[in-house]
Amino acid sequence: TKVIFTSASGEVTEVAANPGDSVMETAVRNGVPGIVAECGGSLSCATCHVFVDEAGLAELPPMEEMEDEMLWGTAVDRQDNSRLSCQLRVREGCALHVTTPETQI
Ligand code: FES
Repeated sequence: TKVIFTSASGEVTEVAANPGDSVMETAVRNGVPGIVAECGGSLSCATCHVFVDEAGLAELPPMEEMEDEMLWGTAVDRQDNSRLSCQLRVREGCALHVTTPETQI
């Protein structure tokens, strides 16, 4: 079970993840750059914005309305594959690929 983070400049960081943790928690705990997570996961900052790779996106549960709304306030404009990483749970046995935006604030 792991999460692979690619920075906007192409630097790849692969970290082991605990199933059930959020992608944001996994990033913060491992000091992955590119995720700020100012609000600590309470869905009020939008500084945990990530772009999810296509395969991973299809596997994820759809976003709630609040996440969708918050995604309009990200520092780098949202794309079709944008999600807030504090809302993404790592699933057992999964290798999720996400790309972090150039800036979160
Ligand atoms: Fe603040 Fe995700 S950590 S919205």
